[in-house]
This record gives sequence, structure tokens and C-alpha cells, in this order.
Amino acid sequence: MSAVTEPYFKIDGLRRLNGVLRVNGAKNAALPCLAASLLSDEPSRLRWVPDIEDVHRFLEILSVLGVESEFEDNEVVVRPSGVCEGSPPDALAAALRASFLVMGPLLVRTGMASCGTPGGDVIGARPLDVHLAGFRALGAEVESVGGRTIARAPTGLRGATFVLDYPSVLGTENLLLAATLAKGRTRLVNAAMEPEIVCLADALNQMGARISGAGDHTITIDGVERLSGADHELIPDRIESGSLLIAAAATRGQVCLQGVRPDHLEALLGKLGETGVEVRRAPAQLDIGVGANARLLATNLQSLPYPGFATDLQAPMTALLTQVEGTSVVHERVFENRMQHLGELRKFGANIIAGGAAPVVIGPTPLSGAVVRGTDIRATAALIVAALAAEGESRIYGVNHLSRGYADLAGQLRGLGADIELVGSADTLAN
Ligand code: UD1
Repeated sequence: MSAVTEPYFKIDGLRRLNGVLRVNGAKNAALPCLAASLLSDEPSRLRWVPDIEDVHRFLEILSVLGVESEFEDNEVVVRPSGVCEGSPPDALAAALRASFLVMGPLLVRTGMASCGTPGGDVIGARPLDVHLAGFRALGAEVESVGGRTIARAPTGLRGATFVLDYPSVLGTENLLLAATLAKGRTRLVNAAMEPEIVCLADALNQMGARISGAGDHTITIDGVERLSGADHELIPDRIESGSLLIAAAATRGQVCLQGVRPDHLEALLGKLGETGVEVRRAPAQLDIGVGANARLLATNLQSLPYPGFATDLQAPMTALLTQVEGTSVVHERVFENRMQHLGELRKFGANIIAGGAAPVVIGPTPLSGAVVRGTDIRATAALIVAALAAEGESRIYGVNHLSRGYADLAGQLRGLGADIELVGSADTLAN
């Protein structure tokens, strides 16, 4: 009997990244825009869709609900054939948090929606109260039975003013999706302002929705009778872009990112600037270059909803802060359990004093290769950043997490000169 080797990334560090690359479309825009296809009977085309596990799994969910799709060359064509009452299979719901995004569209179209507990990264409690309170405000009855959420609105949803307790990203998206076909006007107050919300609203407006204010605290939606299909290009992935900038800085590299939206990365660019890393902007382009002997200095950061510093870049940024001079305090304020990378970073030799949600990073510490495990998408990216900056060979397990959210981070890094290789069978990745 042959043992199956768990795949891992083998990285030989201390190679300065150098070169030009084009980033991928945004994971967190792809998923809500795919959910929007449940709102129409017409086909839609989405362009610049990243080839990642979460997209494939979401397409499987859509297929169960009556939407067939083709995915080729980063384009998805979705063909609804009569959206049916139904719910994502529990295993698929549990595979990604965004599975819950089918609730809003199914509820408004069929009067009934249900979903098992959505999964995704294990980084905190991740309740759904904002989504559920919003559905109730729009007139639905909602109950939770054995971990399954069931929402009913047999006479349809009615527009309302709803103040979100917290500007939840998926919560805002779910309510936006539902409100497009509700009767009358909905106002979402204290809505999330992430660029992915704007991307979704643009797609919906192209389908005939009447949404204004997306990207602001208050979004107004005037319900319409029906929606047509869309032909929509996603925004670039700001988290992938940010991860690559951070990796370039950590290796004191010289990298040009193309196809980016610098305006979506202001908080990160500000923090990089405080450390002394200079990033030059051009339209849709960012150039980062860090001299071999440049002195980089500590900075404090706290993750917050957009336009604050993205929680999804907190872990990679923490890895970079091990390489700057002085003491940095990193305050995670979005998720209560998003510090699982700290213990693993210490295995490289990082000097980090744990302090609940606000650890202190003392640098610079020369890192050396280590065998570590990523526990979620961004924690795994952070360990890759550390390994790139470490002397000698590292092994990073948790490859399955990375492939959920990055189309080909290892390939991109290799193209920039990193010595990174996937060892083990790719077939064992999807679990
Ligand atoms: C989305 C992103 C994820 C990112 C996060 C924050 C997708 C697919 N995922 O996740 O990559 O890290 O935004 O930028 O877009 N909360 C509640 N009640 C709710 C919902 C959320 O209390 O009903 C809390 C969460 O526990 C968390 C905070 O709000 O502490 C942020 O969560 P939320 O904005 O909902 O994140 P997601 O939409 O799940």
C-alpha cells in the first residue's frame, strides 16, 4: 500500500523577487457576481474570473440550483434554466463561507431559501445575525433548525430601511442581492464599503437593477420586476496584489504589478510607506523596489473594514514586519481568531510577543527555513512570505487552503525568481 504524501511548498529563501506580472481578478468579487446569476433567467458572462477552488465549488452549488456554467480562459458563462427551490449540498456549503450568498437570491425569487452552516476559514465565530436580521427586515421569516438556516417569504420581500449592526461584507452582498427584486425601496445603512460591493452593484445595475450609493455607507436599492443577463468584468484581486507587494518588500525585490487598482490598496500602500518601502503608481500599475541595504522601520497597524487596513493582508504584513527595524504592534480588529500564523512564524525565528488580538513584532530577525503549516488562506500566504525571506529550505503545508483563494501564487512567485516548488500530488489538494 503506497502512502499518499500531503503536498507542500518547498521554498529555498533569500531570492530577491524581480520582474513584471499581471494580477488575477478578485475572488471576493467573483463569488457574489456568480450568485447574482440566480436572479435572472438569462445567461451572463463574467470576465477575469480567477481559477481558484472557491469559484469551482460555487459553480457546483449553482449547478445544483439550476444554473449551468462553462469556465474557460478566466471567463464564466452561466446559463440559468429555471432557478429552483433548493439549497447547496451541506458539504459544499461547509466548504466556503460565500455559499450563504445563495440565500438572498433564492429567497426573493422562490419565496424560500435554506442553507447549512457555511464554512470557510476558521478565523473566529463568524455569525450570520446581520444577514438574518436583514432578511427579516425585508419581510422574511427566518429560523435555524439544527444548524440549517431556513428563510421564507411566500408573499415576496418588501423594501425597508435596515441598519446593519456591523458592515459585514457578505451580509451587505446578500441583502443587496435580495433587495434588487424586492417590492419598493430598500436602504442599507452602515453597509460594507469594500470595492467588491461596488463590483457586485455594477454587475447588478448592468442586469437592470437600480442601485445607488454602493461604496458608501448607505446603499439605496429600488426593486425592479426582473433582471436580464450581464456581461461584466471583475475588479483585480486587491488581496493577491497586496500579498505580492508584501512578498516583494520582504525579499527586497523589484516588482511591477500590472492590471491593479492602486486606489483599492491605499491602506496597505500607506503602511508600506511608513516602513520606508516606496511604491510608485501609474494607472493600473504599481512598481515596488527595495534596495538591498535600505533601512526599513517598524509601524503599527490595525485591521478594519474597508477603507481600513484589510484583515486579509494582516497575516502577510505581520510576516514582513519581522524584517523591519523596531517594534510593531499588529491589532486584528475584524476577526477574533486570526492570529494562528504567529506560532508558525516563530518557527522561522521571528520574535513575536503574543498579546491577544494585538501581538508585538520585534525586528529585524534573520529568519531560517522551517517546516510549518498554514491554517487558512491568508495565514498560508504569510508563511510563504516568511519562507521567501528565510535562509535555507522551508516546507509549507496547508496548500489546500492557498488554492482556495490564490489562482497560482507559487507560479507567480516562481516567475519573479522565487525558488518555490509544489511537492506532492495536486490531486490531494481539494479537501
Ligand atoms: C469577507 C471576505 C473575507 C474578509 C472579510 C472581511 C468574502 C467571500 N470573504 O468575509 O475574505 O476577510 O469579508 O473583510 O468576501 N459578523 C457578524 N455578524 C454577521 C456577519 C459578520 O458579527 O452576520 C462579524 C464577523 O464575525 C467578523 C466581522 O463581522 O468578525 C467581519 O465579517 P464579514 O465582513 O461578514 O466577513 P465575510 O463577509 O464573512
